Amino acid sequence: MNSKRLFINTIGCQMNVYDSESIARVLHPMGFEKTSSLAAADMVIINTCAIRGKAEQKAFSFLGRLAGLKREKPGLIIGVGGCVAQQEGRRILGRMPHINFVFGTQAIIRLPDIVNRIVKDGERIVDIDMLDQVPELDFPEAFEDTNLSEISKFVTIMRGCDNYCAYCVVPYVRGRENSRHPESIIKEIEGLAESGVKEVTLLGQNVNSYGLKEGLCSFSELLAQVNDIKGLKRIRFTTSHPKDLSEELIYAFRNFDKLCKHIHLPVQSGSNRILKLMNRKYTREQYLEKTDKLRIACPEIAITSDIIVGFPGERQQDFEDTLDLIKSIRYDSLYAFKYSDRPNAPAVRLPEKISESEKKNRLEQVLRLQKDITIEKNQVLIDSAQVVLVDGLSKKSRDSEIRQWSGRTATNKIVNFTCYNHDLDPGEGLIGELIRVRIDEVLPNSLCGRRSRTSTLHSAKGEN
Ligand code: SAH
Ligand code: SF4
Ligand code: F3S
Repeated sequence: MNSKRLFINTIGCQMNVYDSESIARVLHPMGFEKTSSLAAADMVIINTCAIRGKAEQKAFSFLGRLAGLKREKPGLIIGVGGCVAQQEGRRILGRMPHINFVFGTQAIIRLPDIVNRIVKDGERIVDIDMLDQVPELDFPEAFEDTNLSEISKFVTIMRGCDNYCAYCVVPYVRGRENSRHPESIIKEIEGLAESGVKEVTLLGQNVNSYGLKEGLCSFSELLAQVNDIKGLKRIRFTTSHPKDLSEELIYAFRNFDKLCKHIHLPVQSGSNRILKLMNRKYTREQYLEKTDKLRIACPEIAITSDIIVGFPGERQQDFEDTLDLIKSIRYDSLYAFKYSDRPNAPAVRLPEKISESEKKNRLEQVLRLQKDITIEKNQVLIDSAQVVLVDGLSKKSRDSEIRQWSGRTATNKIVNFTCYNHDLDPGEGLIGELIRVRIDEVLPNSLCGRRSRTSTLHSAKGEN
């Protein structure tokens, strides 16, 4: 079989990163090899995101640019997948004649058939079928196409979402919540660990409800199984919905030595009135109580969050409640977004829309406040020794003489570091190792340090 080249452009969240790997894997047996050169590609697939207007525009502007490439190379096959594909379906083909196929978030398993039909009959295809129960993808030639030097990987453990937050498209474009079977997840992670992966991030829109609907095991029970996998050094997960954060999961941070002491617990707003309009199903007070419990159970835990500013009806007082919540929690870091109207999500119909300029103003205030908090919190780490999982050379090293390495703490902070002397710099051998780094500088988005003289860590136990 002739080898053909596949270029994949991935926009959006970690789930899309995971899905793009699945896309590459299902097409591999048909002779498609991944390429990083758009010009060399025989097929281009874009995996899209619909979470905010901007993400959607990014997809359409990339697709627009492909029209020229297709004129030069009429045999080029172009496919659109992911959340915008699911949302827009056939409209994409109508709008862009150079696109060959559109496939939704549950159609990856059917890609070989779709691509065969295009190659044979030149059909233009739309497949956005959705089921309540998503069939498992089964990869006969497991992991052949993955990059083995990667030490950290995402693993989707559940798909879809049943929460219907008023602003969010995910339930409409990803379907009903659906958990994968624990056996299949464990098998996949064992395979990753065998091929040298040291860290996995378990993905779901709300990991707290893992397995409940299907009567599988609980999320904490799944964590216990992942914690036992040989060769794996660290476990992370995202996202945890505050309304469902259980005591069992809070104590997991204490009980599982490989579980990193970091939780992403998106609050969205600090105002009870707005939380209600958002359909988040918790109050500010309940949220504060849960973060208190987390810190009591695990004092070193890093807590991060998502904030939406300018949700319809958000008045000055509501916004100040959000600033106040950020000040009292003192997050380690956060992502803040301007509310973006989504055609499928119910908030599109809410009155009292906030102007673009006011959203921008509020976003800047949140970012400024958090920046100060992040720096203050990180400053406390100066002179401390932090355990870091090394993932490669730092960005700076790529164009300089100094060999600076990069990794993350269990609390998910980026640490760039050098080694005291040559003996402590074994080169590539550092990648995938847990080592101690002494912190001596705090920058807005990272920490800098030097590898401690006594930094060899033989076991990850108790170091996360
Ligand atoms: N399941 C996760 C979030 C997934 S979406 C959770 O419940 O936390 C990631 C983030 O995008 C959300 O936390 C929210 O802050 C942001 N977001 C989602 N829809 C948005 C919209 N319409 N406008 C702006 N931000 C949005
Ligand atoms: Fe969207 Fe809410 Fe589901 Fe998160 S929990 S994916 S914000 S609907
Ligand atoms: Fe975007 Fe879809 Fe993820 S909308 S954030 S790619 S689930």
